[in-house]
Amino acid sequence: MRKTNYLVLGSGVAGLTFAIKIAEHFPNKKVTIVTKANEEESNTKYAQGGIAVVMNQIEDNFQKHIEDTLICGDGLCNEEVVKIVVTEGPKRVQELIDWGTQFDRNREGSFDLGREGGHTSNRVMHHKDQTGYEIERAILAKAHLQKNIEIFDYHFGTDLIVKDNICFGARVLDEKTNELLSFQADFTLLATGGIGQVYGHTTNPVIATGDGIAMANRANASIKDMEFIQFHPTALFSNDLSSTFLISEAVRGFGAYLRNKDGHRFMLDCDKRGELASRDIVSQCIEKELKKSGNECVYLDCTHLDIIEFKKHFPMIYDRCKSIGIVIENDWIPVIPAQHYVCGGVVVDTNGKTSVENLFACGECSQTGLHGANRLASNSLLEAIVYSDRIFNYLKENTITNSIEVYSIEKDQNKQYFNKNWIVSTRKELQIMMQKNVGIVRNNLDLEITKNQLNLWKKAIDSLKLNHKVTKEIYELENMIDVSLLVVSHSLKRTENKGGFIKN
Ligand code: SIN
Repeated sequence: MRKTNYLVLGSGVAGLTFAIKIAEHFPNKKVTIVTKANEEESNTKYAQGGIAVVMNQIEDNFQKHIEDTLICGDGLCNEEVVKIVVTEGPKRVQELIDWGTQFDRNREGSFDLGREGGHTSNRVMHHKDQTGYEIERAILAKAHLQKNIEIFDYHFGTDLIVKDNICFGARVLDEKTNELLSFQADFTLLATGGIGQVYGHTTNPVIATGDGIAMANRANASIKDMEFIQFHPTALFSNDLSSTFLISEAVRGFGAYLRNKDGHRFMLDCDKRGELASRDIVSQCIEKELKKSGNECVYLDCTHLDIIEFKKHFPMIYDRCKSIGIVIENDWIPVIPAQHYVCGGVVVDTNGKTSVENLFACGECSQTGLHGANRLASNSLLEAIVYSDRIFNYLKENTITNSIEVYSIEKDQNKQYFNKNWIVSTRKELQIMMQKNVGIVRNNLDLEITKNQLNLWKKAIDSLKLNHKVTKEIYELENMIDVSLLVVSHSLKRTENKGGFIKN
């Protein structure tokens, strides 16, 4: 059993920025970060586009960013939250810069602000097409300088320790020894990212199995808006069931066209904003186009763009395409929509507090009310840095030391390992089913069929956990089943189509 003051689950931008601030403010308190892969692996690392923020008050203003966010959220955003995030954003981005994050600048030396779908101004701060990677690099370096931060990599949070609706930390699996540990804490922060792996096609990394949301749900925390799954319109087309490479929306912001196989720019028939309509609209139009034509993918045409500038802005995308034989100056890039983000999650107030005492959530696993029915491009990193700061400010003023009860962990030494094949094949079947039945356009019959199957798998996992040694793979599958059930049940409940949600 380990004791800490602040337990942070997840090592992306949400978890690390909170950990740094609280550790600096309370040098005598212990901050513990638990992360399931290596410390730099997170959804943050894969964010290409950047951070939407009003850094230039001459050509842009807060009101425009607020309105773009509200329009994109299709009437379901919390307006107070939108104002908070947009207006506090510039200070938080400045902090990232002060901590060493490099954002691209133009020849005049000002920030080179990109444009993405749904934005009426250029306001996306970026570092080439690897913004998340750059932020993660800078904040990890900063976190390593704090003597009171300890990072446990390859440690997997399995369940929250909750009694009488108060959180006392989490149970954690040491992935190398397969030993279950108890991390007891005064405060616990879920910063565990998204759920992408429940879909066959996702831009999320393989670690995105909805762990924080599933844990919070099992601890009876309020969860909301899980039906609002955001599909990114332009993932690189592939037939494989796995994480798909993202072709950033910033490429369309740079002037790329979406074409069908015959070369028609079909987005102009769908929305007057064309390729720069918000993501939900573009994904829905692509889906319609594919149904109509029977084709497997549509194409992103960059052949008319300045290739020197393109390479400067998008070196990773250029190289990745080249590695599979697509030369961007000559060839169209085959793309399809893929799961990208969950707008819902663990409900939090404006201080990041969940409905469970001493439990906080931040980043993609949380539901703040910023995104409503559809997230505006590049608003997610912004939300994470604003809310981690708000949680820090709240906890700065509200310290406690829990008189923690010790929770014993049942040893399962005598149990046998379960056959891995069932776990692997069930994970695949789940991904195929969610992709087919719970995609961009849904219907109640498919949702009911999926729910029944998920419930069968849930029963199987429950009995498997009772009788076998429990591994990370089993916990991940359990979490994937639990969050899929949330997506399906929230989709069944929703009667009105909004933003990214369409049910026939
Ligand atoms: C992208 O670069 O297209 C993704 C940015 C985001 O998800 O906001």
